[in-house]
Amino acid sequence: MSQKKIILTGDRPTGKLHLGHYVGSLAARVHLQDLHRQFVMIADAQALTDHADDPGLIRTHILEVALDYLAVGIDPKKTTIFIQSLVPALPELTLYYLNLVTWNRLKHNPTVKAEIQQKGFGEEVPAGFMIYPISQVADITAFKASLVPVGDDQIPMIEQAVDIVRKFNRLYKTDVLVEPQAVTSPVARLPGIDGKAKMSKSLGNAIYLSDSADVVAKKVKGMYTDPGHLKVEDPGKVEGNPVFTYLDAFGKDKAKIDDMKAHYARGGLGDSVVKKYLLDELQAFLDPVRRKREEWAKDPAAVMQILKQGTEVASRAAAETLAEVRAAMGINYFS
Ligand code: TRP
Repeated sequence: MSQKKIILTGDRPTGKLHLGHYVGSLAARVHLQDLHRQFVMIADAQALTDHADDPGLIRTHILEVALDYLAVGIDPKKTTIFIQSLVPALPELTLYYLNLVTWNRLKHNPTVKAEIQQKGFGEEVPAGFMIYPISQVADITAFKASLVPVGDDQIPMIEQAVDIVRKFNRLYKTDVLVEPQAVTSPVARLPGIDGKAKMSKSLGNAIYLSDSADVVAKKVKGMYTDPGHLKVEDPGKVEGNPVFTYLDAFGKDKAKIDDMKAHYARGGLGDSVVKKYLLDELQAFLDPVRRKREEWAKDPAAVMQILKQGTEVASRAAAETLAEVRAAMGINYFS
């Protein structure tokens, strides 16, 4: 067996998690927790960088996100689940790393730039938001993570982490920090049910892990397909058609899906038939997830206890790295 690696990843608790999160990262975590040492972080401090006016929203979603994790099978016996803002080493590491990056580099981070656009910040972007990639480097390096399962929008963050790790190790002639690597999904990113490139809460085009069977049925029925496919006999487009992208991600019977794609492409297969099949496959995936979520939701105190214990474990691990970082920098004054 290969040597165990360390994994760190996380989510901002600003909304419930959806199928896009599952395909992009949650599925990998469920698999990786059996192979490696995994930390999963609820990034409340990062969420505050653009939600300072609404900490109540974040508070609520700490529990919701934890329920989503447990529902999909992230197992607290195998994975340490913790709350970012309760790990004091993280902001301290951030402070030191900030000196290793230029303001110019921060301004050009593609993910941050896209978010500034999307949120309409303009020049009024919070300073905390501009530097969140560096706090994310602290998250990753505090645990010496070498693998980071994330959606592909997070690649620039991992590149930033690699740069800081190299710079830190070179500057302070050390090897305490570990270079991370992104683990991205083998399945194409899930578009929204409206056909937009990304499923997201802000676009209102997501299917949530916690959506009821009725809501999922409604959403699938209303899903965007090929707008040129007007009559059943017409040839339809498979490429870029969300219904098929979802089937690729959640359908079990690959041969049947291939047949449906060929049939759709030559004409004669109606959207409603494909949607019905997709709905069956989605419900088969979501039914047990919903049941597990409802079970845990009956005992929020137990869920919070899992987070509390996880946060203690994570705090100890991060404090150790911080001590090594301070020693490497030679600012460990009393030892
Ligand atoms: N930026 C991630 C998101 O938007 C959340 C996150 C915070 C994260 N810290 C991280 C992901 C560290 C991976 C590693 O969802």
